[in-house]
Amino acid sequence: MKRATLTMLATAGLLAACGQGGGQGGGSASQSPAAVPAESKALLDQLPAPYRDADLENGAAHFSLCRSCHTITKDGANMTGPNLYGVFGSKAAGKADYSYSNALKAKAPTWDAATLNQWLAGPQAFAPGTKMSFVGLKDDTDRRDVIGYLKVASSGGPT
Ligand code: HEC
Repeated sequence: MKRATLTMLATAGLLAACGQGGGQGGGSASQSPAAVPAESKALLDQLPAPYRDADLENGAAHFSLCRSCHTITKDGANMTGPNLYGVFGSKAAGKADYSYSNALKAKAPTWDAATLNQWLAGPQAFAPGTKMSFVGLKDDTDRRDVIGYLKVASSGGPT
């Protein structure tokens, strides 16, 4: 919770610094395409482009690839991979009840859209020797959508 709040603040600051942050809503003719819950939309809006435009349905569909190794709900179990609740904005390899590889511990990025993008494109390239034996999501749009899904789902938002 505290982490999520900090991330929100940090992201808001970043957006402000970049002069972005407007643009959504405002009662114009363009409504959100699918019925994205307002809470999820608000979480996505904290992300920089292009992640804020993630298609959550496509993200959820591709997250099914991850579900064989990961849960993402609060207090979900660690499986082959660690539970991903709260992962956004957290320091990598940070869960005390999961045994990470030295490779990921040594790299230890903070997980934001940019670092997740590199990680998910090719885990072995990002942290050589990682025990996440997943080839990576090669399609830029699918990766964007999974990152949007991660943002919402790992923050406990409706997906
Ligand atoms: C075959 C099992 C497997 C699959 C499939 C898999 N992962 Fe992982 N994942 C792992 C393992 C194992 C680790 C721990 C890596 C380490 O310690 O080197 C990990 C770590 C992670 C982390 C870092 C968590 C932390 O606490 O720092 C993220 C984020 C992540 N995975 C996201 C994903 C996403 C998103 C997908 C799907 C696109 C995915 N993973 C698919 C096994 C998997």
